[in-house]
Amino acid sequence: MTQPVRLTQLAKRAGCAAKQPPGYLFALLGSLPLITDPNVLVGSSTADDAAVYKLSDELALVLTTDFFTPIVDGPYDFGAVAAANALSDVYAMGGKPLTALSIVGFPDAALPPEVLGEILRGAADKAAEAGIAIVGGHTIKSEEPIFGLAVVGTIHPDRVLSNDHAQPGDVLILTKPLGLGIITTAAKNGEDKLGAITEAIRVMSTLNRAAGEVIASHGAHALTDVTGFGLLGHLRNVVTASKVNARIFLDRVPVLPAAWEYVRAGVSPGGTHANHRFLADWVTYAPDVSKEEQLILCDAQTSGGLLASVAADQAETVLSALHAAGVSVATIVGTIESTSPGRIFVDRSGAL
Ligand code: CO
Ligand code: CO
Repeated sequence: MTQPVRLTQLAKRAGCAAKQPPGYLFALLGSLPLITDPNVLVGSSTADDAAVYKLSDELALVLTTDFFTPIVDGPYDFGAVAAANALSDVYAMGGKPLTALSIVGFPDAALPPEVLGEILRGAADKAAEAGIAIVGGHTIKSEEPIFGLAVVGTIHPDRVLSNDHAQPGDVLILTKPLGLGIITTAAKNGEDKLGAITEAIRVMSTLNRAAGEVIASHGAHALTDVTGFGLLGHLRNVVTASKVNARIFLDRVPVLPAAWEYVRAGVSPGGTHANHRFLADWVTYAPDVSKEEQLILCDAQTSGGLLASVAADQAETVLSALHAAGVSVATIVGTIESTSPGRIFVDRSGAL
C-alpha cells in the first residue's frame, strides 16, 4: 500500500511564510518608475492588499495575485486555502470578486497528475463558494508545487477601503484568530501533538467574504487582511500609510490555543522570526509582554482574517453585524491614536 503524498514535505517554506520579508520588496519598489496613470486609485506605493483601477465614475477593478508552496498536506485543502487566501485581498479592499485565473507550478516527475487535479478542484469549489469561476490559468514545471490565483474584482471608486485612512479614535477589529503559521509549521514538522491542523485548515479555508461584506456595507476608515507579515506587520502598513499610531491589547487578541503551546515549545516559522526582526524598529512592547507573545503577534498567517479600523461609535454595530453573519471570532483588539505616527504599542491589557 502506498502512503499518500504529504505535500508540505515537498516545500522548503510553506504558505505565506514563503513570502519575501517586508523590508525586501519596499526598497526595490522604490526604484521602479513612478505610476502616473490617474486611473490607478491604489498602486504599489502604499503596500496595500490589491491594486484598484478606475474604469468609470461608477466602476473600478480590484486586481491582485497570491500564490505559494503547500501549507497543508492534502491537495484539495491546499487548493481551497490558496484560493481563499487570494480572494481575501479583494475583500480587504471592500471589493466583490468577479473572476480568477490559476497560477500553477507542478513537479510532474514527483507527483501524479491526480494531485494537481485535487488542488484545482479544491480551488474551484472555494471560488464557487465566493460566487465566481476560475476561467483559465497558466502551469509550469517546478521543483516544488506552487498554487494560487490572480483575482479580478469590482468596486465603486468612492467606496475603496484602502489602508491609508485609519483615524485617531478608531478601534481595530480582527476577524480570525492568530497562530496559523505556528500550527502549520508544527504539523509540517510532525510536532502537532494536539491535532490542531484540522481547526487551522478550517480557519484558513474560511472565506473573508462574510466579514468583508459586513465591513464594506457599514464602512470602515481602513481595511486590510492579516497574512504573511503577521498582525503587527500588516498593521504597520496601515499606520505608516495613515500617519497614525496603533495600540494593541494582547489579552484581547484571539489566538488558536494550540499555537500558545507550540510557540512556548520553540515552534515558529522562519517568516515569523523575520517579521519580528523587521518590526523591531516600529513596535514598542510593554515590558511584561514575553518573546513568545511577541512572536504570536508577528506570526506569518496564511489566509488570516480582516483587520478593520472603524470609528469607535460604529464599533458595536459592526461587531454585532459580524457576529450575526457568522464571523464569531470578530473582536476589538486595539485602538488608533495620533501621538506618534508610524508606531505600534503593544500592551497586555487596557481600556478601550
Ligand atoms: Co492582503
Ligand atoms: Co496578498
